[in-house]
Amino acid sequence: MRTIAIIGCGRIANNAHFPALTKIDGVRIKYVCDIIEEKAVKAKEEFVSYAQAITDYNIALADPEVEAVWVLTPNYAHYTITMDALKAGKHVFCEKPITVSYELSCAMAEEAKKQGKFLNIGVCNRHQRSVEVLEQMVREGKFGNIYHVYCSFRDFRSIPGLGGDFTTKAQSGGGVLIDWGVHFFDLVLYILGGAKLKSVSCNAYSEMAKDMKSYKYVNMWAEDTADVEHGTNDVDDYITGYIRTDKASISFNGAWAQNIGKAEMYIDFLGDKGGARLNYLGQFTYWDGATLQSYTSEHELPNMYQEEDEAFLKSIESGVKDKNYIDYVLESARLLQALYDSSEQNKEIQF
Ligand SMILES: NC(=O)c1ccc[n+]([C@@H]2O[C@H](COP(=O)([O-])OP(=O)(O)OC[C@H]3O[C@@H](n4cnc5c(N)ncnc54)[C@H](O)[C@@H]3O)[C@@H](O)[C@H]2O)c1
Repeated sequence: MRTIAIIGCGRIANNAHFPALTKIDGVRIKYVCDIIEEKAVKAKEEFVSYAQAITDYNIALADPEVEAVWVLTPNYAHYTITMDALKAGKHVFCEKPITVSYELSCAMAEEAKKQGKFLNIGVCNRHQRSVEVLEQMVREGKFGNIYHVYCSFRDFRSIPGLGGDFTTKAQSGGGVLIDWGVHFFDLVLYILGGAKLKSVSCNAYSEMAKDMKSYKYVNMWAEDTADVEHGTNDVDDYITGYIRTDKASISFNGAWAQNIGKAEMYIDFLGDKGGARLNYLGQFTYWDGATLQSYTSEHELPNMYQEEDEAFLKSIESGVKDKNYIDYVLESARLLQALYDSSEQNKEIQF
């Protein structure tokens, strides 16, 4: 039986990790913690009536029975809570992005090593079946040489929680790039087989909600965190750029909001023997360059949150790192930082 604590009882906890963890045998959630007491109490009532609802995570960290914690708080809080938990001798599952900067992400990786604890990051899409199959096909040479990847993570007028922590750089670390791009670039580097960065060039824009009160939208998810009267919006709602790696080059466009009324969420892998379009959170279509035939995958898509939670627990059991271990995710954190630096400095960043 593994005794764990959940820190942060917001959307990702309620929609993904509580439902996943309560389905996994051998897990005892001893504490549910949120700085907002009602949220901790509500999570306890809804998912784990036997747990203790707390508002100070240090209570869980001081309990020797607790072996691992899930850090499911806003981005800015990932660093402090994770560092405190590692120093208290706990294994940590931390939601994506690792944190708000590459420098702090590296410090978290170092601390995990120093303490000899597992620190996994919630890059859940690595546990999608279609992603796993595509990654295997790349390794088997079905694409030949992948020379270019194109990423599109664009949606129509859907900035989250305008004015709240999502659109406040000091709390989120950025906008559409760090929130959605983090998943796409993680997948690209992962599927390419650990590509190393050579240079990046990027432009970030914050154009669609300069006047927050008059911003029109079709979807404002995380609306409960919005504050258009008194809040802040200083993050990217559109981003574009070009990346050189030791493997493929990568171009991309991302938009939380744009005046094109169509969501386009996919990654194209262009190889000299084959190519594929991976639809985000879905299936892929593969084109074989020799036969000119194509097929669309029909994989069962298991619950990726449950898969990543199970993999983390298995690591603790076996002592073997899973693909979501922080060291395997650091290069994409380096990429996000470099893209923001390139845009701010208005120049290409070389490595
Ligand atoms: N993997 C994914 O696909 C995915 C999807 C959504 C969100 N996320 C990530 O999950 C994290 C949380 O996002 P969310 O949408 O659930 O946010 P949220 O605001 O709904 O929930 C975060 C919760 O953390 C609590 N909190 C803040 N500081 C705390 C502290 N010091 N101690 C205890 N609780 C604290 C807040 O009160 C809030 O209830 C973010 O990092 C986000 O990027 C990942």
